[in-house]
Amino acid sequence: MPLLLLLPLLWAGALAMDKLCPLPCVCQNLSESLSTLCAHRGLLFVPPNVDRRTVELRLADNFIQALGPPDFRNMTGLVDLTLSRNAITRIGARSFGDLESLRSLHLDGNRLVELGSSSLRGPVNLQHLILSGNQLGRIAPGAFDDFLDSLEDLDVSYNNLRQVPWAGIGSMPALHTLNLDHNLIDALPPGVFAQLSQLSRLDLTSNRLATLAPDPLFSRGRDAEASPSPLVLSFSGNPLHCNCELLWLRRLARPDDLETCASPPTLAGRYFWAVPEGEFSCEPPLIAGTRGSLEVLFQ
Ligand SMILES: *[C@@H]1O[C@H](CO)[C@@H](O)[C@H](O)[C@H]1NC(C)=O
Ligand SMILES: *[C@@H]1O[C@H](CO)[C@@H](O)[C@H](O)[C@H]1NC(C)=O
Repeated sequence: MPLLLLLPLLWAGALAMDKLCPLPCVCQNLSESLSTLCAHRGLLFVPPNVDRRTVELRLADNFIQALGPPDFRNMTGLVDLTLSRNAITRIGARSFGDLESLRSLHLDGNRLVELGSSSLRGPVNLQHLILSGNQLGRIAPGAFDDFLDSLEDLDVSYNNLRQVPWAGIGSMPALHTLNLDHNLIDALPPGVFAQLSQLSRLDLTSNRLATLAPDPLFSRGRDAEASPSPLVLSFSGNPLHCNCELLWLRRLARPDDLETCASPPTLAGRYFWAVPEGEFSCEPPLIAGTRGSLEVLFQ
């Protein structure tokens, strides 16, 4: 019964580090790197006596409501921090200020409504940032600035965002996965993805996009073999207005996607990739129309 033999050993290990291991947690010093495992322990705040040398800190599935700078102070070797599914509404300025080694930060399934420009300051080597399933309505323009160069994976899906820090996101050279799905985004700045040469997954599903401006990124998915990083792009669940402005996209021919047109009325509900190119039209203005009738024509 290997498990029964192993458990007392783990327990003894935890006891040996008694003073440094917060009471409800389990601490393991395996291959000389310390893990502090405190998931599902009913915690109301980050335990103050976590060993500052910890490399992995798991705090998921607790009831933590706020984070502040003392919580992770001096944890300069921390690589992995998991705070998923707590009740976090507030992240104090520079709460992660000492986490220079942090590579992965999970904050999904909390109750964040806003991220200020100093909420995420500090983790200059961050690679994975997961913010999905909060109630974020605003992310300050500079919020991601400390890890623009290192970030590979950004997930802000399932929030209430109309805007994201586009300038920052557009200058993340290492970014390869970007999840923006299930938000309220109604416009993309033209060319915002142009510099993201590593991007291989972009999810824009279920937003409020009526149109997409031409971006060189989108044509990358077409030539899967020729391109170093073919793009997997999803934008179904957007109210696409299928007129001449989207003709460029229709011409990319990606028959495996499920997008539909929401307007104009003649194309509503039609499968985007099945509408013949000729029907993506913008009516030329009619001569001698009054202002009112022109507006009708362009709707
Ligand atoms: C973990 O174990 C190594 C030796 O195996 C030791 O040098 C190190 O100090 C220990 N770390 C902690 C935090 O106890
Ligand atoms: C952090 O490190 C500084 C300098 O070594 C020390 O004075 C301070 O008490 C430490 N704080 C915590 C919370 O460990």
